Amino acid sequence: MYSAVIVLAAGRGERLGGKTPKAFVDLGGKVLLVRALDCLLGFPGFKWVQPVISREDLDRYAALELPGDPRLAKPVIGGAERQDSVAAGLAALPAEIDLVAIHDAARCRVEVADVARVVAAAERHGAALLAAPVPDTVKHVKDAVVISTPDRRACWGAQTPQVFHRALYAEALEKARADGFQGTDDAQLVERMGAPVHVVPGDPGNFKITGPEDLARAEHLLAREGTAP
Ligand code: C5P
Repeated sequence: MYSAVIVLAAGRGERLGGKTPKAFVDLGGKVLLVRALDCLLGFPGFKWVQPVISREDLDRYAALELPGDPRLAKPVIGGAERQDSVAAGLAALPAEIDLVAIHDAARCRVEVADVARVVAAAERHGAALLAAPVPDTVKHVKDAVVISTPDRRACWGAQTPQVFHRALYAEALEKARADGFQGTDDAQLVERMGAPVHVVPGDPGNFKITGPEDLARAEHLLAREGTAP
């Protein structure tokens, strides 16, 4: 199958604080988006790497030192919600692409071996995501009161990449649109169709940079690895 990856970087990342949109925040001398692109381009199976950015960030993007790889496509402009940004990325993919990975630029440390495993699982099963077991006991809460406690052994934290046969994902996206459903990840759109989504155990190091404490954790890991330029 011909695979592509959509790299989502059109969010504002307000929980990180500061004026710079999250994907353009510096981590050890490289912005998060460039780190994420470096990781994804490290997987030779991707024939097309499609960044999605906000219109406001076109100048910021043009100023980046981007990897010189012909598989890196020109960025497309995202939408108001994450799902709109995915739709914009999907529409930009060439017709021959039949396997689509979707990745948050805010997960800028994903390992190539994990990318390869989740792509292989999706190729085989139709839909797959990377996920890590949840260390905390999870509570389902409404109005500050616990409604239920799912069995922790059955709880996994969804990561990206999430990878799908293109036709299946396009149908799921269309159904979500028709139903007015907005997901916080992509797998749930496919789950709503009743299609199985396979879980590939990922590395807890593939965490999403959301708040300043996540950035500090990533800086600490980089310093420990001695890979900061
Ligand atoms: O907001 P959240 O952390 O869930 O965003 C996950 C990813 O989706 C980020 O990489 C962000 O840039 C991207 N995103 C997007 N378009 C939006 C909202 C979020 O590309 N409208």
